[in-house]
Amino acid sequence: MQVALTPRQCAQHVDGLRTRVEESLGTLVSATQPVELYEPARYVLAGGGKRLRPVLLLLAAEAFDVEVNRAMPAALAVEVFHNFTLVHDDVMDHASTRRGRPTVHTAWDESTAILSGDLLMGLSYDLLAQSQTDGLADLMSVFNRMVVALCEGQAYDKQFESQPDVELTAYFDMIDRKTAALLQAALELGGVLGGADRNQRQTLRSIGKELGRAFQIQDDLLDLVADDARWGKSIGGDLVEGKKTYLLLHALERAEGDMRAWFQRVVAEGGLPQARVDEARARMERLGVLDAARRAVDAHSRAAQEQIALLPSGAAVDTLLWLVERLRARLH
Ligand code: IPE
Ligand code: IPE
Ligand code: MG
Ligand code: MG
Ligand code: MG
Repeated sequence: MQVALTPRQCAQHVDGLRTRVEESLGTLVSATQPVELYEPARYVLAGGGKRLRPVLLLLAAEAFDVEVNRAMPAALAVEVFHNFTLVHDDVMDHASTRRGRPTVHTAWDESTAILSGDLLMGLSYDLLAQSQTDGLADLMSVFNRMVVALCEGQAYDKQFESQPDVELTAYFDMIDRKTAALLQAALELGGVLGGADRNQRQTLRSIGKELGRAFQIQDDLLDLVADDARWGKSIGGDLVEGKKTYLLLHALERAEGDMRAWFQRVVAEGGLPQARVDEARARMERLGVLDAARRAVDAHSRAAQEQIALLPSGAAVDTLLWLVERLRARLH
């Protein structure tokens, strides 16, 4: 009879995986010339971060009996790809801070951010191709489909900034692409490495979709309510940029009268000055929007856990269940 891992064992397991990812990331970029290319690439990879996607990949692989070493190239590929998307996302979102440090286009300039981002993208493909598997074509196609979806999601995210009437279904479609697609791919790639069958791959994708929704809604929430120092990004950035977040769409749906007019003005003006972010937060609090977001995070986290329970039981599944719980309570 199998004994479930304790929360402490789950935490140690994740820490162990994260440490191995961190060590490997640290040795990835050794070239130095041209400096303006390699220095920012190293800067980005050394910036920390939760390393969620490689950990998900390694745990999914483990659920199908794949050793960490064999899954590591693919795990690094998804993390490096994620870092590439962050560099370009920060240009697109005019974000000056990430992981508590200046963004690449702020510390250097936009050309540097574009190019060092491109380098990371190329590096991620190189890493993926290093995977020892008969299913390399399968890995590539999962990865490539994710890339297309993520670009579509980012395009919708930008398009919605100037679109006044975004429905909540369109929001979900957008975050399924910009955020969930990469979590789905991470999990599915782990499964592909372990020879998961069609149903199991579908389950892995379902986990990624629910977890991705929970993760992005919480990112939207934390963008407004997080502690500045731990969050590492500028508070209220989404409101300033005029992003159609879960919070703003809910505020528009719930507000009436003057309150409604106030939020409609935010939309019409394409955002809010930083100085009015506190007021927007207070109004959202009053409307119950922040609680609605918390409930949505809980619901999608639970749905992810229900799907995780369908995977072959063992230490990896216990750890995945624990990890979802941890993410639900995350503050950064
Ligand atoms: C940020 O991802 C981008 C989103 C999908 C919201 P993370 O919150 O995983 O960023 P890091 O890697 O931990 O910094
Ligand atoms: C997350 O979008 C999706 C990607 C980065 C691809 P956000 O724009 O919300 O991410 P953060 O908040 O800047 O990390
Ligand atoms: Mg952003
Ligand atoms: Mg963005
Ligand atoms: Mg965000």
